[in-house]
Amino acid sequence: MRQWIKIERIPGVLATAYEKGTRMAIDSYYSHVADEIVAHLPGDRILDIGTGPGYLPIEIAKKSATIHIIGIDLSRKLLSVARSNADKAGLSDRLTFQLGDAGRIDFEDASFDMVISTGMLHALKDPVRVIQEIYRVLKTGGQAWIFDPARVSGMVDRNKWKASLNLRERFFLKLFQLFGLHKPIKTYSREEATALIEQTDFKDYRIDARDNEIRIKLRKA
Ligand SMILES: C[S@@+](CC[C@H](N)C(=O)[O-])C[C@H]1O[C@@H](n2cnc3c(N)ncnc32)[C@H](O)[C@@H]1O
Repeated sequence: MRQWIKIERIPGVLATAYEKGTRMAIDSYYSHVADEIVAHLPGDRILDIGTGPGYLPIEIAKKSATIHIIGIDLSRKLLSVARSNADKAGLSDRLTFQLGDAGRIDFEDASFDMVISTGMLHALKDPVRVIQEIYRVLKTGGQAWIFDPARVSGMVDRNKWKASLNLRERFFLKLFQLFGLHKPIKTYSREEATALIEQTDFKDYRIDARDNEIRIKLRKA
């Protein structure tokens, strides 16, 4: 069942707990996705929407020396975590993290060679609007890869993750669970995703639906 209340932005009080989970998924997930992206880059200017702690852009920038990535997110807290992560990785000169809404992307038409996103599609209140915005900011021939695992945290050892949380993080996690805002979630099926894309200007796309993860590759013709 999909979440009955959609909270798009990760609440600030859960940001550090979320960051700890995704950090554990760098080797098992983000690094592999980055390899795939780097092998298919149509150009050097990339936008990551719903960038969170920034681990995907960081992994891509480690693997491609010419790449420039802008990450946008609604969470100021996660953006500051992403900046600090980029700084620690020595990649701040090629990675920019800024406040921005994927439903109203603050860039001109045809600004990017590629738009990427991980773990965000299922949480969007208006996914059609976001996909159409992606179309608008892509250059002709540009590609968008929207990968949506239901939970990146599902890919890490949950006990190890919980053990890494401090008291405050545990408290807020429990609180959100009590209010049912942290229910198991489901990604879109192939049919549901097709119905969303068909409402946008994208005509060229491929959907790979697997076990609770959907991978959508779109091209602006
Ligand atoms: C589950 S997290 C995924 C973060 C990151 N991409 C990752 O793989 O770790 C989803 C992120 O999307 C952000 N988000 C949700 N709706 C958004 C929107 N409309 N515009 C920008 N960011 C959004 C949330 O704040 C959150 O950081």
